[in-house]
Amino acid sequence: MSRTMIIVGSVRPGRIGLPIARWVQERANAAGLDVDFADLAEINLPFLDEPSVPELNLPQEKNHTRAWSERVKAASAIILISPEYNHGYSPALKNALDYLFTEWQRKPVAIVSYGGLSGGTRAASALESVLAFLGVIRTLENAAIPHAGQRVIDGRFEATERDEKQLAPVIAELVAGLA
Ligand SMILES: Cc1cc2nc3c(=O)[nH]c(=O)nc-3n(C[C@H](O)[C@H](O)[C@H](O)COP(=O)(O)O)c2cc1C
Repeated sequence: MSRTMIIVGSVRPGRIGLPIARWVQERANAAGLDVDFADLAEINLPFLDEPSVPELNLPQEKNHTRAWSERVKAASAIILISPEYNHGYSPALKNALDYLFTEWQRKPVAIVSYGGLSGGTRAASALESVLAFLGVIRTLENAAIPHAGQRVIDGRFEATERDEKQLAPVIAELVAGLA
């Protein structure tokens, strides 16, 4: 069965990444996508502690690595919800990416970034080279949400028309299986 994984890249208490990811989940569900909501704060991977180098594709020793591997393998596509920290993306997201290698290959991946004026586009740019090395298939469409913090009210992200216009083609591309 086709299942889109939404990875919440921010793990801070009070993070706005969670309500933004919930908004993306709602829109994905509404478009008929089955979603695996992967909150990195819940998954709580330690800093990479797998003894072998993922690229070598050796047996994984740690239970949390194997569980993460199975979960990513089961995804037919992935939406990364990425904050922008100091013009990069979050350490939690990098850690989660670094745990695996072949699991990412040929996986359609979209980025929904958010931040201040730039909408997290510098974080998205920083992700690109890593995702290219991991061999994912990048979607044509991505969403960048500027001034996102201003629109999180009582723990809910209140999307503007512009935000919806950013996200809709990303979801449409995944629904159409074009990525
Ligand atoms: C360590 C850190 C660095 C940040 N750097 C940037 C930045 O480079 N660009 C930006 O637009 N916002 C930056 N911000 C502001 C974030 O966009 C804002 O705090 C946002 O809520 C972070 O996402 P989160 O709440 O999901 O963690 C930074 C925030 C933190 C905590």
